Amino acid sequence: MATISFEYTLGNIDSIPAEFWQHAAPYRLITFTGEMGAGKTTFISHLCNYLQVEDAVSSPTFALVNEYAAYIKGREEVIYHIDLYRLCDAAEAVNAGMEDCIDQAKRGSAYCFVEWPGKADALLFAPRLDVTIEVTGETERRMTLHIVER
Ligand SMILES: Nc1ncnc2c1ncn2[C@@H]1O[C@H](COP(=O)(O)OP(=O)(O)OP(=O)(O)O)[C@@H](O)[C@H]1O
Ligand SMILES: [Mg+2]
Repeated sequence: MATISFEYTLGNIDSIPAEFWQHAAPYRLITFTGEMGAGKTTFISHLCNYLQVEDAVSSPTFALVNEYAAYIKGREEVIYHIDLYRLCDAAEAVNAGMEDCIDQAKRGSAYCFVEWPGKADALLFAPRLDVTIEVTGETERRMTLHIVER
C-alpha cells in the first residue's frame, strides 16, 4: 500500500478531515502518535467538527476517556477520545474503562481515537489505523497514515 500523508498548517487544517476520513472511516480504532504539542488533540478536535460532534472537544488528559456523540453518514455514532499520556500500565487502562471502549470498537459499535497508544499497546487490536504527526515548522505539520492489517 502506498503511504498516505498530508501536510497542513493551523490555517488550512480544516481542509484535511474530509480526505482523512475517506481513508480512516473503515477503522474503528485510530491511534495518534507524535511528540507533546504535535497537534494530536487539535486534529482530533477538527476531525470531530467534521463528524458533527456537538460537544466541545477538549484534551481528555485528566479524564483519560471523553465520550462524544457524532453523526456519521446519517447515523448516530459514539466516539471515545482516549489520552493515555498519564497512564502507568495496562491494568490502569482497564480500570479506567478503556478496555470496554476498545471492545465496543472491536464490535463496530463505537470509534476509538487514542493519543499516546504505546502506553497500553497490549489493548490495541488490528485492523486499525495508526496516525503519526510530525512537527515540520512553527505551524506546519506532516501527518502519515499507516494501516495495520493484523
Ligand atoms: N498545523 C497544526 N496542527 C495542530 N496544532 C498546531 C498546528 N500548528 C500549530 N499548532 C499548535 O500546536 C499545539 C498542539 O497542541 P495539541 O494539544 O493539539 O498537541 P498534542 O499532540 O495533543 O499534545 P499532547 O501530547 O500534550 O496531548 C497547539 O497549541 C496548536 O495551536
Ligand atoms: Mg493531546
